[in-house]
Amino acid sequence: MNEKKTKNILILGANSGMARALARELASPQVQLILASRKVAELEKSAKDLEIRGQGPGPKVISFNALETGQHEQFLSQVLSQVGTLDEAYLFFGRLHGQTEAQKDFNLAREMIMTNYVGAVSILERVAAYMEKRGQGMIIGISSVAGDRGRQSNYLYGSSKAGLTVYLQGLRNRLARSGVHVLTVKPGFVDTPMTRNKKKGLLFTKPEVIAKGILKAVRARKNLVYLPCFWKYIMLIIRSVPESVFKKLKM
Ligand SMILES: NC(=O)c1ccc[n+]([C@@H]2O[C@H](COP(=O)([O-])OP(=O)(O)OC[C@H]3O[C@@H](n4cnc5c(N)ncnc54)[C@H](OP(=O)(O)O)[C@@H]3O)[C@@H](O)[C@H]2O)c1
Repeated sequence: MNEKKTKNILILGANSGMARALARELASPQVQLILASRKVAELEKSAKDLEIRGQGPGPKVISFNALETGQHEQFLSQVLSQVGTLDEAYLFFGRLHGQTEAQKDFNLAREMIMTNYVGAVSILERVAAYMEKRGQGMIIGISSVAGDRGRQSNYLYGSSKAGLTVYLQGLRNRLARSGVHVLTVKPGFVDTPMTRNKKKGLLFTKPEVIAKGILKAVRARKNLVYLPCFWKYIMLIIRSVPESVFKKLKM
């Protein structure tokens, strides 16, 4: 019960369906979780549940808004003042609006780009600078298979994730010699609040499966993982279709 916490783990966007599943897997007396997101009351509820599961002091809860980039420096200082050091940072937050709606209303497109790309880069640059200086740490960024190729049905969301994927790739390259590891996660379709209006077909996966896959990839210190792994092959095929053919497909 009084065992010392050995790892401090920050979860950005901790109210997300996938993040909740991951936090349940991580909860243990040795891990100090820091849950960050906009809806603090929701975070508090999760923290209580995790405290019971983890059989130790519960997670810390801190308000975080990806769109308020001017507050990100202060947010990280707040995290560090509460837990001292940071060993791992998971970035789960994200916004998805329908492509048709976002084509008609640029505010929706902008919200996706500002959250999924600009907000993510803003907070991760700060986390990366801290970990680089410390000479250790791990950053886990949740991107998407949607960023692998632009399609008419979701290119506004997809391009924000493509930007995140390339950002994480560059960050990994920058930090490779500093002792800081960067893992890019590309999930396929996952049954969470984000996809509540989508018809669930055979390709859909439960968030619990994704959480287990992420932790396996973290332990193996992978650079990039498609989850579930069959998406690696689906996306390989999709990426290999020549552009002259691809542009005529209805996808
Ligand atoms: N579901 C899928 O099929 C799928 C597939 C591939 C990739 N992904 C990606 O995987 C990640 C997790 O997705 P999910 O399906 O678990 O999503 P989700 O359940 O819809 O959760 C998304 C979370 O993002 C947070 N968020 C949105 N805007 C924010 C902001 N401005 N500041 C801080 N937090 C913000 C929300 O937090 P609050 O509740 O606190 O507002 C929400 O809980 C996302 O990045 C998503 O793009 C999802």
